Amino acid sequence: MSRIETLLSKMSLAEKLGQLTMTAASYAVTGPVIAGDSTQSIRDGTIGNLLNMVGADHVREMQRLALEESRLGIPLLIGFDVIHGHRTLFPIPLAEACSFDPRLWALTARESAKEAAADGLAMTFAPMLDVSRDPRWGRSAEGPGEDPWLGARIAEAKVHGFQGHDLAAPQALAAVAKHFCAYGPVTAGREYASVDISERTLREVHLPPFAAALAAGAAAVMPAFTDLAGVPMTANVALLRGWLREQHGFEGVIVSDYNAIAELMHHGIAADLAQAATLALKAGVDIDMMSDAYRRGLPVALTRGWVSVAEIDGAVRRVLALKERLGLFADPFARGASAEAPEAITARRELARTVAARAIVLLKNDKSVLPLTSVGLRLAVVGPLADASADMRGPWWGAAGPKGHVTVLEGLRGMLGESGVSHARGVDIDGEDTSGMAAALDLCGLADAIVLCVGEAATMSGEAASRAHLGLPGAQREFAEAVFERCKALHKPVIVVLFSGRPLVVPWLVEKADAVLAAWFLGSEAGNAIGDVLLGHVSPSGRTAVTWARAEGQIPIFFGQRPTGRPADPKDHYTSKYLDVPNEPLFPFGFGLTYGKFTHSNLRVPQGGVARTDTLAIRVDVTNAGARAAEDTVFLFTHDKLASVARPVLELKAFGKIGLKPGETGTVTLLLPAAELRFLGLDLSPTFEAGEVEILVGPCADRRQLLVASIQLSSG
Ligand code: BGC
Repeated sequence: MSRIETLLSKMSLAEKLGQLTMTAASYAVTGPVIAGDSTQSIRDGTIGNLLNMVGADHVREMQRLALEESRLGIPLLIGFDVIHGHRTLFPIPLAEACSFDPRLWALTARESAKEAAADGLAMTFAPMLDVSRDPRWGRSAEGPGEDPWLGARIAEAKVHGFQGHDLAAPQALAAVAKHFCAYGPVTAGREYASVDISERTLREVHLPPFAAALAAGAAAVMPAFTDLAGVPMTANVALLRGWLREQHGFEGVIVSDYNAIAELMHHGIAADLAQAATLALKAGVDIDMMSDAYRRGLPVALTRGWVSVAEIDGAVRRVLALKERLGLFADPFARGASAEAPEAITARRELARTVAARAIVLLKNDKSVLPLTSVGLRLAVVGPLADASADMRGPWWGAAGPKGHVTVLEGLRGMLGESGVSHARGVDIDGEDTSGMAAALDLCGLADAIVLCVGEAATMSGEAASRAHLGLPGAQREFAEAVFERCKALHKPVIVVLFSGRPLVVPWLVEKADAVLAAWFLGSEAGNAIGDVLLGHVSPSGRTAVTWARAEGQIPIFFGQRPTGRPADPKDHYTSKYLDVPNEPLFPFGFGLTYGKFTHSNLRVPQGGVARTDTLAIRVDVTNAGARAAEDTVFLFTHDKLASVARPVLELKAFGKIGLKPGETGTVTLLLPAAELRFLGLDLSPTFEAGEVEILVGPCADRRQLLVASIQLSSG
């Protein structure tokens, strides 16, 4: 008999339910703690999994209890939210998406896994794959942005990065693809609110990143807190048992979200814990995180005849199989056995700096005010985010404490010296106190340029951080306006470094600033990376992975919309537009300036009929007509102009990068498998329709800036 079957044959019901239970170890708790004294429960074999415990020593002690003091000696599975780093923080996922660099996406996951595994962890509740088209939703910060194809590419890179080639390796973490699925379109952008979207949008937009995570071998999946048209994901038989397990053959573990099984009662589909537990188990949820619904509810459900021991055994088997795959039976102490070498930690910080610089999106650079290269440069670095170490972390800071994350002030002082950089906070991130403004304004006169650091606090995005007003919080606008006014009079340029977990709605700020950097939250090396870009050590290359609205009323806003029967026409009243704002966003998806000046030409697409098995090589020439070396990102979109179902006006299918010196021209080749041109037909099954498809290539999702060519799909 296999180890798993042998164990199962010996397990009591309480021990089985223990394997299906995950309890917080009183660290970074994100919801109510229910399960009582976990130490004794581990000895009793009635808790088999922990979350929110870090530190190799703690882990070793807990594993020792499980192995030596519990009857069956089954190792614990210990998970944590390693979202964008563990102790060393990389940019938040939304920022990292903007690097459009699959190699780095995987590398930061790999490094996070190593660091977390050295702390004894075996599972991360990541990657977060919820496509978000509504920046009011704070969790936009944690995810891949607005596009499903991009989300899929990030999903596979992250799963490979976290898990490596061998899940049993002591540096590998089990990835948890979350939150399955369609958590992003919560009603009105309000956290945890109900979701009601079409079956088509579910399949075209929200499922593809999960399909990619599964194809990459994700070990586990976490259902979303939300309901989908009345069926909470935690109890969603059609999607968990149907799509995930049956259609995609997923044999890994499904771990509930925090207290989500008990919350089935609040959703109004379970009368008590026994019914909630029954619904979740029947849908396929194996591990109950923090509800204690399986331990308390399933024994009752068994006596009521609602569930069978065989169903419980099925879940236990999957949990034990994951522990086996992770090598936990072979050596439960392998993770966290030895501390990492200092060089590894130093190299990780360097990687964090590289990625952070590549995640920055330069939104504006009037008269090439950046980079700041003059000799003897004096800067005034002002604003509440200029020297805010804790906020540089962004939401989900893993096990990283508040200190030691390089601030803009520290970064610039490190590069320019103490005397070259003056600083005043001006105002707080939030609140109405303006008493510090005068001191900050006084610094403007003495500087060559002003670096104005404004935006959100780290806690204003992430979970439970929806916002209805997406401007600058508190008195920051008043402060920024005063800085602009003073600097206008002084003829001093103002460079805005904007921190946020979402695209803020700040057209006035962009208009008045000379330059704007979207710095999102860049992690432990934020200030150095920002300094690198401001001073021209690095030419910015990030492109926004989300559309920036010019007014909250444009939300949800995204490039992949379908056409309207009445395209906007300023001369025709009865066309699709607003009376008070343009339809166009402030910045389209893919937008981002560099220190070069790129032009695209000579788009080449294959001639003749394209069969569904072909892979097309599409080429475009890129010239750097600017004065500095820089890296360009080229996007390939398609538009199926005539199909049985209206197709989005642009669909992202590929991107490529090229670094060019001034005056240099190069060619970018973008590969497009024709199979990607399939879409869901009228009956929602994949179809490949013959006819013309537009190929649009260029700098961003603004049709006017794209080169266009056509290909012909042949039937069959
Ligand atoms: C979040 C999950 C997270 C879990 C454990 C929940 O509140 O929704 O994303 O993995 O807590 O910390």
